Amino acid sequence: MDKTEHWENVYQTKSSDEVSWYEPDPKQSLDKIVSAAVDSRGRVIDIGGGQSFLVDRLLDAGFAHVAVLDISRTAIEATKARLGERASQVEWMVADITQAKSLGEFDIWHDRAVFHFLTDPDDRRRYVELLRRSLPIGGHFVVGTFAKGGPEKCSGLQICQYDAATMQAELGTSFEPLKCSEYLHTTPSGKPQQFFFGVYERVG
Ligand SMILES: C[S@@+](CC[C@H](N)C(=O)[O-])C[C@H]1O[C@@H](n2cnc3c(N)ncnc32)[C@H](O)[C@@H]1O
Repeated sequence: MDKTEHWENVYQTKSSDEVSWYEPDPKQSLDKIVSAAVDSRGRVIDIGGGQSFLVDRLLDAGFAHVAVLDISRTAIEATKARLGERASQVEWMVADITQAKSLGEFDIWHDRAVFHFLTDPDDRRRYVELLRRSLPIGGHFVVGTFAKGGPEKCSGLQICQYDAATMQAELGTSFEPLKCSEYLHTTPSGKPQQFFFGVYERVG
């Protein structure tokens, strides 16, 4: 099964609150985006947004330019359906982030639990190149991954765990850390999962 088939299968067979990453209130992400944004005119993209409620909360917070990208068309269509009329306020993209050539320009790039699936160094290099091309100097990268000591797999797939040092090594000198922290996510079945969260500014 290739990557697209894997994620299509997940979203075609599980409801949004059955998946381990389900989060009814994406507070960690939203707080970091709100504090990174100069104002609600900031353009925000949620990479691998899936069926996350982050897009709903960003619209509630008044963000006028919000985009959601995911490899799964099923996830994107379900999120659009949930938003109803408000879906037209959002830019939707179905793409594999490791293959996309250009996404346009954004002030904030958010990724919760996608980067850690990139176990191939070439995929990570292409991701960081696209990130750098998509954010102007002063733009922010908000990323959440499994932390060191956290889960070793997600959705049956291998992942890479991160801390501040290993994330910085992936990002290089074009990105400066503003805040790195960890928190515990609890899955719908009650399992704790340690997450690393970093907020970076593009400086070069
Ligand atoms: C663990 S889920 C996290 C979903 C969402 N960010 C959240 O926090 O609820 C990973 C998401 O990334 C998407 N995804 C995985 N690999 C991807 C890729 N290479 N390009 C774009 N999206 C991808 C999946 O379809 C899935 O929606």
